[in-house]
Amino acid sequence: MIITTEETQHAPMIEALLDTAFGPERHTKTAYRLREGVDPIPELCLVALDHDEHGNETLEGTIRYWPVVIGNGTPALLLGPIAVSERWQGGGLGSKLIRMTLNKAAMAGHRIVLLVGDAPYYARFGFSRQLTLGLQLPGPVDLDRFLGLELVPGAMDGVTGMVGRGPVSDRAAEVPLPSPTDRRAESRIWLARPA
Ligand SMILES: CC(C)(COP(=O)(O)OP(=O)(O)OC[C@H]1O[C@@H](n2cnc3c(N)ncnc32)[C@H](O)[C@@H]1OP(=O)(O)O)[C@@H](O)C(=O)NCCC(=O)NCCS
Repeated sequence: MIITTEETQHAPMIEALLDTAFGPERHTKTAYRLREGVDPIPELCLVALDHDEHGNETLEGTIRYWPVVIGNGTPALLLGPIAVSERWQGGGLGSKLIRMTLNKAAMAGHRIVLLVGDAPYYARFGFSRQLTLGLQLPGPVDLDRFLGLELVPGAMDGVTGMVGRGPVSDRAAEVPLPSPTDRRAESRIWLARPA
């Protein structure tokens, strides 16, 4: 298993994994409104790669982050989507992807992370609904699933308002994939392959 930076050629496998995890209707969700026309943050977009019995590369996990802006200008990250293949679910891969990227984000100076997801899962990484009580999203969402995390203590003090898209890309919204210049594997990790 290798966890490395996402590259353009991973896109079809990522879309297939996200379709399996969330269904093709995922594009109608409010979180996707915040991603339209915006490039993800390349260094925080990771993939977990393995090989099948024929030696072909398989994609077992994906995590992406988008830039957003809160209120009148507080920058934040929007975590997601994240998905792990059914084969690897429950083996710690999702946690590893989240912890690795949150560490990278903190090291890079990011201060706030938002997401829409299952609170019972994300609470273990420090996400809470309490931090987003003063924020709004530009569309319908189950508010119990709207969570925040401070990478710097107090980063959300006094931060309120509507969450909006980050800088809009010059590129077509349909192909927002990064082409990282650093193609080295970020990390080679050992996780027991499921039977
Ligand atoms: C959610 C997901 C990314 C987690 O990745 P993973 O590699 O399976 O998770 P990990 O192995 O790191 O963690 C497993 C733990 O998370 C719990 N967990 C997994 N998904 C959960 C969820 N949606 N809600 C609450 N807990 C969850 C498991 O019960 C397990 O708990 P334990 O540690 O007490 O045994 C993955 O299961 C996935 O892609 N699921 C399909 C998409 C999905 O349902 N997303 C919903 C989250 S927004």
